[in-house]
Amino acid sequence: MTNATTAHGWQLQEDSASAYERYLVPLLFEAGARHLLDNVRPGPGQRLLDVASGTGIVAREALRRVGPSGEVTGVDLNPGMLTVAREVSAANAAASDAAPISWVEASADDLPLASASVDVACCQQGLQFVADRAGALAELHRVLTPGGRLGLSTCRSLGHQPGYVPLVEALRRHVGESAAEGMASPFALGDLQEVRSLVTEAGFRDVEARIVVWPVRLDSPEAFLWGESASSPLGGVIAALDADVIHELLVDLASGLAPHTDDAGLSFPFQTLVVTATR
Ligand SMILES: C[S@@+](CC[C@H](N)C(=O)[O-])C[C@H]1O[C@@H](n2cnc3c(N)ncnc32)[C@H](O)[C@@H]1O
Repeated sequence: MTNATTAHGWQLQEDSASAYERYLVPLLFEAGARHLLDNVRPGPGQRLLDVASGTGIVAREALRRVGPSGEVTGVDLNPGMLTVAREVSAANAAASDAAPISWVEASADDLPLASASVDVACCQQGLQFVADRAGALAELHRVLTPGGRLGLSTCRSLGHQPGYVPLVEALRRHVGESAAEGMASPFALGDLQEVRSLVTEAGFRDVEARIVVWPVRLDSPEAFLWGESASSPLGGVIAALDADVIHELLVDLASGLAPHTDDAGLSFPFQTLVVTATR
């Protein structure tokens, strides 16, 4: 089995992109976008770039902050994610007077944008999946105006994620090492000093790294497993398992999540790093 997540930078199938927008965005990344933008603070009229935009939650939230005189561009490698991003933002645009968001298919380490052409550059939960992280940060530095602001977030490492440790371990026991590694891959750039060093070495100044934590709520371990697998590159792998393997996997997952289970389902904290800096 290949490791679809780490080998190809969290590349999803098109239906996974829709599941990502329905499940992961409200669960984790809507709150993450607000935390990121509260820290990087884009203002009215600014030009903002959202790199590894996925289905576009940061770009959409940013559009509200830069207002009708601002400009927002989203860049992602994955056409399926961009299709959902275009659909959701078009539906929002129809209901407002904001300028449309521009969506561009490109890699973070080779941005098709002019130098010094954006005021704020964001990357939420994307840098950990980019093979050439230094190259992506060099590109973010290049496209920012002098004095422009960088805001990026990456999940803290797996040891800080009490909900995801039981999921990764249950996958390892019942599905295999590759599935476990795939589910662990979002947590691969979770050390604060490592992220701070990467940003500093790219030439940014005023680098500030913060730990940000927010609560996650889910109805059940089943909802957690199905939501995570459907909106990740592991969807096909989990769906192809025998029913008895899925049953054992769920029993194991429920046991691992018992300390985070209450009468309403699951509750656990999600921890991320938010790094801001100046070009
Ligand atoms: C976990 S998603 C995060 C998406 C979005 N920023 C959000 O907050 O919902 C990771 C995204 O990184 C994108 N990605 C991975 N490698 C990339 C690269 N080299 N250049 C641009 N995007 C990349 C994937 O296609 C995926 O959409």
